[in-house]
Amino acid sequence: MYGMAEDNIFTQYIQKRNVIVKNKKILQSSYIPSNLPHRDDKINEIVEIVAPSLNKDKPSNILIIGKTGTGKTAVMNYIGKELKKADENQENCAFIYINCEVVDNPYGILYNISNQIITDPNKKIPFTGWSLDKIFSELTTYIDKEDKIFIIVLDEIDRSFQKNGDDIFYYLTTINEILEKSRVSIIGITNNAKFTEFLSPKIKSRLGEEKVIFPPYTVNQLKDILYERAREAFDDGILDDDVIPYCAALSAQEMGDARRALDLLRMSADIAERNGDKKITAAHVKSAKNKIELDAVSEVIKTLTVQSKTVLLSVIKNTEDGMTTMTTGDVYTTYKYICEAISQSILTQRRVAGLISELDMLGIVHARVKSFGRAGRTKEIELNTPKEIVNMIKSDEVFTDLYSYKPSKQTTLM
Ligand SMILES: Nc1ncnc2c1ncn2[C@@H]1O[C@H](COP(=O)(O)OP(=O)(O)OP(=O)(O)O)[C@@H](O)[C@H]1O
Ligand SMILES: [Mg+2]
Repeated sequence: MYGMAEDNIFTQYIQKRNVIVKNKKILQSSYIPSNLPHRDDKINEIVEIVAPSLNKDKPSNILIIGKTGTGKTAVMNYIGKELKKADENQENCAFIYINCEVVDNPYGILYNISNQIITDPNKKIPFTGWSLDKIFSELTTYIDKEDKIFIIVLDEIDRSFQKNGDDIFYYLTTINEILEKSRVSIIGITNNAKFTEFLSPKIKSRLGEEKVIFPPYTVNQLKDILYERAREAFDDGILDDDVIPYCAALSAQEMGDARRALDLLRMSADIAERNGDKKITAAHVKSAKNKIELDAVSEVIKTLTVQSKTVLLSVIKNTEDGMTTMTTGDVYTTYKYICEAISQSILTQRRVAGLISELDMLGIVHARVKSFGRAGRTKEIELNTPKEIVNMIKSDEVFTDLYSYKPSKQTTLM
């Protein structure tokens, strides 16, 4: 057929491509949907505060607070787009969005804001080298020249605060005292409301002139959000009826997080596609859930100290030797052996018991208090980790020496 390539090693992938997902972009978390179900009230709340900017009146600063995946970023970007449309000739207001996770130092933030405003390439502010005061005074000049209301969104504002304190907020909230024509409003977005406790009282009250709280989504709300996206992303009949309710139920348990729900749906589609399946079923969602959980545990494992990894490996070794449950003493015996093998200092049994409790809290092992017998309190410890994680620990480079280790005569394992 004209325009059709001949069969080659890629053919099978071309045929599979897009069989399941009509439009991949729609399921990605960076996609801004034009319709955000169950956020009308929040959108209205913010629009009401921001609307005066269209008449060149300064809106109050806003702090938007809500758990992860509750639609804060999506809502704010949507409002920004609509605001630009409403300000037809871009004469009254300017909307500037900065993600403080990506741009996390005061210079970077001011640089970024400035260069969204300064259009002349010869006037752009250099990437480094200026003092904060210089960049700030340049920025102030440019802002004032425009004679507009500037709405500056600082997303993940707590990230910037963690790294730099409140300098940047000081600059941005006092700028109005210097400006003659223009005005600046700040919209801070955070999923960690606690950070405001550490701000100086003045800045805290300035940033939080208005507060808008985003509650977690309920199961039914998550279902609506997914149905809406699925309608655009898939052809009819691709999704089994129970796929979306299942994704929604799993994500509602995890704090009503729409990102998590979309991740599940997208990964389920990926898995189905890779298997060459024609439909997405609950089984694909299950695999996606397992993969997400595994990725999360792997992330945790990477952050463990060598001592904690040694304790975990001890539990693994004991389990592989046939002990399905064990006491702290059992773990400690193996732990000491491994420490010697990899030439690591040996902690006391009490400390090791503490590390076991930590692993228990992370959900990597189970530790139950068994009895309060004559010997005091004993714990029953069990491994609670998928085999992928077991393999990850066993092949961790800190244990390389263990496998070639020959215990000296004095050392006995048991
Ligand atoms: N009401 C909604 N309708 C459609 N999609 C939504 C809705 N709320 C959130 N989403 C989608 O869910 C994902 C997560 O939302 P968003 O990034 O806005 O969360 P967030 O509150 O900013 O989370 P975080 O605090 O982690 O940054 C995005 O892909 C977004 O498009
Ligand atoms: Mg966000």
